[in-house]
Amino acid sequence: MKNIVILISGRGSNMEAIVKACAQEQWPARVAAVVSNKASASGLQFAAEHGIATAVVDHKAFDSREAFDTELARVIDGFQPDVVVLAGFMRILTEGFVRHYDGRLLNIHPSLLPAFPGLHTHQRAIEAGCQVAGATVHLVTPELDHGPIIAQAVVPVLPGDSDSSLAARVLVQEHRMYPQAVRWFVEGAVRVGADGRVHVAEPAARVFSG
Ligand code: GAR
Repeated sequence: MKNIVILISGRGSNMEAIVKACAQEQWPARVAAVVSNKASASGLQFAAEHGIATAVVDHKAFDSREAFDTELARVIDGFQPDVVVLAGFMRILTEGFVRHYDGRLLNIHPSLLPAFPGLHTHQRAIEAGCQVAGATVHLVTPELDHGPIIAQAVVPVLPGDSDSSLAARVLVQEHRMYPQAVRWFVEGAVRVGADGRVHVAEPAARVFSG
């Protein structure tokens, strides 16, 4: 049984989707803990109601990113994680933290990487005239919003879209894609080749669309 630790900063709808899929599909894994940098993150309540351990490490209580990340890792490691899943965790992580979880740290980013790393991805996609937008699940490397791509979700950008209407369309696909990607990971189906690209062992559709 593998241990999944999920990091959130807010709503936690991707975390919810992973918790539900893990239970319903009987993965060889359990969500051991949900950890947030904000005590106000509403997703913590969902986790607690589902009998999942929760913890808060408030970044504001630390003088430096290094000090915050050291304490964050100490708390996460208390749950003996096989995989650490960033699900709307809105802190930039230090290289030391990322290296500590090398090969077992996953992120979902709301753009079709390598386009639009960083913030305000949907607004930037609309302003650039993109006809498609989406989200990417990838292994985390020290460079922000980079790292080997496990899966991508693509949706159309429609005339009249606002950043929130586009975000809502992308989020529906995030909730399909992220549980599937975490499941591949805990089933041992994800491998990074010598070419630096992800290979998924089963005949998996790695593009989600809607
Ligand atoms: C999701 O759209 C996720 O892709 C994005 O935050 C949202 C979190 O929603 N992540 C990032 O922007 C990471 N830089 P959720 O809390 O409901 O899962």
